[in-house]
Parts: sequence; structure tokens; C-alpha cells
Amino acid sequence: MLRGTLLYLSEQSSLKRMLSGPLTRPLVSRFVAGESLNEAIESVQRLNAAGMTATLDNLGESVSTTAAAGAAAMQYIAILHAIERKGVRCNASLKLTQMGLDVDRDLCVRNVERIVAQAAQFDNFIRIDMESSAHTQITLDIFKDIFARRKNVGIVIQSYLYRSESDIRELNRLGARVRLCKGAYNEPVSVAFPDKADVDKNYVKLMQLLLSEGNYPAIATHDERVIETTRAYASKHGITPDRYEFQMLYGIRRDLQQQIVRDGYGLRIYVPYGEEWYPYTMRRMAERPANLLFVLGGVLREKRR
Ligand code: FDA
Repeated sequence: MLRGTLLYLSEQSSLKRMLSGPLTRPLVSRFVAGESLNEAIESVQRLNAAGMTATLDNLGESVSTTAAAGAAAMQYIAILHAIERKGVRCNASLKLTQMGLDVDRDLCVRNVERIVAQAAQFDNFIRIDMESSAHTQITLDIFKDIFARRKNVGIVIQSYLYRSESDIRELNRLGARVRLCKGAYNEPVSVAFPDKADVDKNYVKLMQLLLSEGNYPAIATHDERVIETTRAYASKHGITPDRYEFQMLYGIRRDLQQQIVRDGYGLRIYVPYGEEWYPYTMRRMAERPANLLFVLGGVLREKRR
């Protein structure tokens, strides 16, 4: 129930104002690499030095004007230039609602194509994040449309959706690069498994499909059991670590991140930055309500000062 409440609150942007301030800074800075691109690039440099690659996410979603979508697209062009200039091992992840999907589909496609074309010039790659189920079909349609013209773009599939197995089979046939995650939104039982055990079981099934038939899949999870199962499945089927990568979120299970690198597996860290930290941070709290204790601890420490 707490998960549902936190996910509901993640959509109430008016709460952001109440929560902004020094008291929540420790929580936000745990999950978000800073407000500026420079700070984010410095984080990527540190990750690279620790043997990890990265994907940069300029936080923002659900823009409602053409101008805001254009500004977000320009920010991604700036990200690609910064990656190139600094020579960091990093690509970028974006959301279609940030590129204007809810304003006008063609505007969104134009913005994303511009970014993917720029990435191609730098021999780089763009990942389209997956949002709530209201956007699944259109996100896949736009992905396939762009992928037909440019191959340096990938997509995300969520194991909590019933439809995901058939989506993965189709994406594998196309040779598309898929990131597999469990799914972070509040979804109705009509479209998503209500029980976490079923989401986890489906994740393993989809991971196996991707490893056996997919194109350099990204296994995005902090679930140790799933990571262990992935490693065992790959090794049993002769799938070497250069044919897939693990992915994790900035600031989550840093111990496990280091272990994966020590064990010789590829690991990419999703590095979000920017001022629009509120919905992203609330989704991270919903995944692990114990993070609320972390915030309360921060509040108490601030009060004692
Ligand atoms: P699970 O929730 O079962 O957690 C396993 C363990 O990980 C927990 O026991 C805990 O130790 C740790 N953990 C997980 N979340 C934590 C948190 N917030 N704080 C502290 N510890 C935590 N979703 C989506 O809908 N669309 C997308 O495009 C993406 N993209 C994406 C990229 C990458 C690189 C990752 C890793 C994840 C996403 N996600 C996502 C989020 C994903 O759907 C999911 O919500 C989270 O990864 C949490 O699920 P786990 O797989 O980690 O498992």
C-alpha cells in the first residue's frame, strides 16, 4: 500500500515545492548526480574510473509545450557533445513524454531523430526509457519507426506487463537492443502482474529470451538472485559476458555494483541529473520505502545542527 501511495505522490508535482529544500537534499543527492550537466559528467568520470560505463538521463517528463520539448532535445544534444568532448564512456537515455509525445507525436519523433542522428555522428547510442502503460504502445511504435532508419537506438521492456513476452519476441526478431527492467509505475491489474513474485518470475523468463535470442541485452536490476540466475544461465549456454551487460541506478546497491565489476562483468550505471528530480526520486522511494528512514535520518541530523 505504501508503494502505491508513494507512486501516487510521485505524480503530484505540487508536493515538490513542499519537499524542496535542505532537508531532502541528502535523499536527492543519493539518487541524482547533481543539477548541472557538469556535475553529471564528473560523476560519469568517477564511474568510468571504477570500471563502469554510464547512461545519462536529463531528468524531466510529461512536458506540455513545443518549446519545453525543444529545450529538452537541445539539452540532449549538449549531453552528446559533452560526452564526446570529455571522452567519457557513456551514452544517453531519454523519455518520449519529455520530447513532446503528449503535445504532438510528429514533434516528438522529430526531436528524438535529431538526437539519434547526432549520436550516430559521434558513434554513440540512445536508449528510449519506458514510461507508464498508457504510453507503451506508442513508445514501441515510435521506437520501431526510428529503428527502421537508425540502428543506434534501443528500447526498454518492463517484466510487470503481461504483454512483454510478445513484445520481446518481436524486438528480438528485429535485432533491437532491449533493456529489461521490472517496471516502476503504478499499473492496474488489467495490464500488469499484481504480485511481485510473478513480476520476478517473468523477469527471469524474459532475461532468458533476451540472452538466447536478443541483441546485446541490458539486464537492469539490483536483484541479487536475478543477477546470479543471469550469470548462471549465460555461462550454461556459452553466452560470454561481452554479449550482454548489467545495468543499475546511480546510488543504489553500490556494493553490488563494485562486486559485478570485480567479477569481470560489464556494468552500466544510469545517471540522472537536473532540476526535475521529484517524480524520479519518489519512484525510487516507492521501490524501497526503507529509503524514507534515510530521509527522516537526514531531517533529524539537520535539526540537531
Ligand atoms: P527489486 O525492486 O526487487 O529490488 C531488488 C533489491 O534491490 C532490493 O531488495 C534492494 O536491495 C535494491 N533496491 C531496489 N530498488 C531500490 C531503491 N530504490 N533504493 C534502494 N535499494 C533498492 N523502470 C521503468 O519503468 N522504465 C524504465 O525505463 C526504467 N529504466 C531503468 C534503468 C535501469 C538501469 C534500472 C536499474 C532500472 C530502471 N527502471 C525503469 C526501474 C525498474 O523498473 C525498477 O523499478 C527498479 O530497478 C527496482 O527493481 P529491481 O529490479 O532493482 O528489483
